[in-house]
Amino acid sequence: MPERITEVTALLAEVLAPRAPLTVIVDGGDPGAAAAFAARLAAAFPPAARAWNVDAVLGLSGPGGGMFDSALNVLEPATDQILVFLRGGPRHRFAEGDGERRAQVVIDHRDPDWPVIRHLHQSLADVNRWYRSESQAFFAARAADWDTKFGDDMPRYTEAVRLAGVHPGHTVLDIGCGTGRALPALAEAVSPDPSPGVLPPVVAESSSGASGALAAAAGPAGRVIGLDLTPDMLTAARRAGRGDCADLVLADARQLPVADAVADVIFAAGLVHHLPDPIAGLRELARVTRPGGTLAIFHPTGRAELAARHGRVLRPGEPLSEERLGPLLADSGWILTSYEDIPDRFLALATRES
Ligand SMILES: C[S@@+](CC[C@H](N)C(=O)[O-])C[C@H]1O[C@@H](n2cnc3c(N)ncnc32)[C@H](O)[C@@H]1O
Repeated sequence: MPERITEVTALLAEVLAPRAPLTVIVDGGDPGAAAAFAARLAAAFPPAARAWNVDAVLGLSGPGGGMFDSALNVLEPATDQILVFLRGGPRHRFAEGDGERRAQVVIDHRDPDWPVIRHLHQSLADVNRWYRSESQAFFAARAADWDTKFGDDMPRYTEAVRLAGVHPGHTVLDIGCGTGRALPALAEAVSPDPSPGVLPPVVAESSSGASGALAAAAGPAGRVIGLDLTPDMLTAARRAGRGDCADLVLADARQLPVADAVADVIFAAGLVHHLPDPIAGLRELARVTRPGGTLAIFHPTGRAELAARHGRVLRPGEPLSEERLGPLLADSGWILTSYEDIPDRFLALATRES
């Protein structure tokens, strides 16, 4: 298996080389990280492109020795310039400015041995070229420790399931289920009497053309299906025994292998802000939900607390802000019915339009 840095720089070189001549400016990360990353990126360009690229891939450390701002905040935009931001340096340097938002490429660089592309501007590459493999790489590195790190949050999932109005007999999809932290509470809510167990998968057609789509099996026992993009997350879910209370399915929320109007409730914890096109993603969630069904967008911490944990400041207009989420949902077949953003819970509930 190639080193992660090799995979990432090869992908970037592939999408950037045809755009020459241009200047690539790398900033962010720990001291020295930008220069080291720029050198690896320059070396990844095909030989024919190197003549200009070696000189043009610059690793910066920010004005003032990088102590108070990102160079990306102060550079004048130019069409022949690509800004690459390494997320994960000393927090105070980048938290206030627009550097990260101006960058066409954002790399998660908290572990320099495991860089992951988190944003690649659509003008550089189709999202399908990078999103799936990079998301999987991002979450694969976190799967084994996920429950150890966040295990204390379990009671918040139980409460969120209660607030979402999950009832006996419901079909619930936990999309982006990760290690399945919500699954025991969901299974308990749909089948308080565990004797019938989890129903086996059944197959149906979906309007999105997905063949072999999972369909609802109506019955008093209800059913819970956990779906996730990252195989390592589902492996961790199985190891934690969560395959005993739900079906676990490898699937992309943007194109679910699920028949139309199957779900009574969609539970989506920590998912929506990871989708590259939230409206398209929310439409796909609407497709698989019956009219009148519920979408619960949840996180076990509030938005401000989550941003602080990642060394970010909240900005207006982010997809999960109240002013943005309502219109996003309205454009994708949902009606926002409640919105709560408190320190130990983010929970937005929406109803599928009839
Ligand atoms: C922040 S984690 C949350 C995991 C879990 N819901 C929890 O609350 O512990 C986000 C999860 O969404 C998954 N994910 C990201 N993009 C996805 C997509 N397009 N389709 C399905 N799952 C996705 C990731 O693999 C990861 O497991």
